[in-house]
Amino acid sequence: MRSSTRSDCSLRGAARCALTWRGLFIALAVGCITTGTVMVLSPQPASASARPWTWHLPPGVPPPPVPAANPMTPEKFELGRYLFYDKRLSGNGTQACASCHQQQRAFTDGRPRSIGSTGEEHPRNAQSLTNVAWNATFTWANPLLTELEQQILVPLFGEFPVEMGVVGKEQLVLDRLRADARYRQMFAAAFPGERDPITWKNIVYALATFTRGLISFNSPYDRYLAGDERALSPSALRGMRLFFSEALECHHCHTGFNLSASTTFSGAAFIERPFFNTGLYNIDGKGAYPPDNEGVKEVTNDPLDMGRFRPPTLRNVALTAPYMHDGSIATLEEVIRFYERGGRRIARGPYAGDGRLSPLKSGLVSGFRLTDQERRDLLAFLESLTDESFITDPRYSDPFRASPAHDPQRSIVNSAPSLRPNTSGK
Ligand code: HEC
Ligand code: HEC
Repeated sequence: MRSSTRSDCSLRGAARCALTWRGLFIALAVGCITTGTVMVLSPQPASASARPWTWHLPPGVPPPPVPAANPMTPEKFELGRYLFYDKRLSGNGTQACASCHQQQRAFTDGRPRSIGSTGEEHPRNAQSLTNVAWNATFTWANPLLTELEQQILVPLFGEFPVEMGVVGKEQLVLDRLRADARYRQMFAAAFPGERDPITWKNIVYALATFTRGLISFNSPYDRYLAGDERALSPSALRGMRLFFSEALECHHCHTGFNLSASTTFSGAAFIERPFFNTGLYNIDGKGAYPPDNEGVKEVTNDPLDMGRFRPPTLRNVALTAPYMHDGSIATLEEVIRFYERGGRRIARGPYAGDGRLSPLKSGLVSGFRLTDQERRDLLAFLESLTDESFITDPRYSDPFRASPAHDPQRSIVNSAPSLRPNTSGK
């Protein structure tokens, strides 16, 4: 790619805007400094060798939006898969994307809050990457983050908190990848015609392509929708009716083919980007949330945005405990009881307060009563949203596991924690 003197490094600008919402500065170099090439998000030249991509989607599910600059190709997807599972991508070689986004947990990490590569605690719970391509915005509460290519800069280059910790190590990480013959070959195949394809821009593009391709529409609920009446148990069917009832209101916020109101698709005429306060906290009687997790207010500075978060997809939700943006609810049954009460009262401690009485809480979270059987039914419905094929699909799995003898993740730091899936369960 030809160098340009223009400074409209929009990828970089996007990351800054994604990150300063925490009120923090990030010196984000990305490829601009490290490769001596200014990144301009112009479309790749149409290349002869890039193969087309086929979405395999059930009827009624439109393809997700894909930026013109970064079309889907099988080569980029496969490269992105390797990068996603490669600890060499973090500054100190101890953490991969997959450390916090584990396939067997629908790409979450099982912790209330994630721990970054340098041991820093993230204020938030690792999000599931189920059908992430259709999300209208990314992360738990950022209306400005609307492209995966922008979002992926956050774990790579974010410093508050440090996740992958690449800042200051940009060249080191590129050198690690350039030293690997397999990457030289894979980057060349994914970005044909580029003289030096191992760049941060292309790393981000490949990771975005992989995460965009993480697709899950094969749960018992999907099979029921496709006409298999017996795919859902009688209990799950009763739970489904409760979920979609006006008494419970769940479906207003967890709606549509991805069970999230914050859903978009290719060619969408109107994109809704909803965020809600569900009454988890009310520290001061005026609706305050803990200072490190104020939701959309951190971006907009609007006091009315206090505690507003994106409604997550409920697909694979039985695999993604603990729950909510800060992992503060341990089980699905407790989540249901939280909605029954119409918010959460915290009796003691620094966050004491009655979320049920928060003036900022959505009117759709007003509480209801369930019998024990109805609660079990609703739980059975939520469990019917688990797609076993998603968490076992080899296309999404760790490519380094197949050949442990050549596992490059091991060679980098001997004491690195293992990336092997935790086979003991959730
Ligand atoms: C230290 C753990 C950690 C690492 C490493 C990590 N993530 Fe995340 N990821 C998170 C957390 C926590 C969130 C929620 C962030 C927020 O709301 O501010 C998240 C959110 C995301 C999202 C947004 C999902 C959505 O529904 O909006 C994507 C996409 C994502 N991560 C991809 C990646 C990729 C790709 C990598 C590797 C480059 C990566 N993550 C590395 C913890 C991590
Ligand atoms: C007003 C909109 C709204 C309604 C109504 C609503 N939810 Fe939610 N739901 C949300 C939001 C927003 C979050 C994330 C809140 C947070 O993290 O602070 C959430 C989180 C969840 C989670 C946790 C998901 C995760 O990945 O951590 C589950 C489970 C859930 N809701 C189920 C339900 C059920 C069941 C109902 C009906 C009883 C329901 N919701 C009603 C908006 C809503």
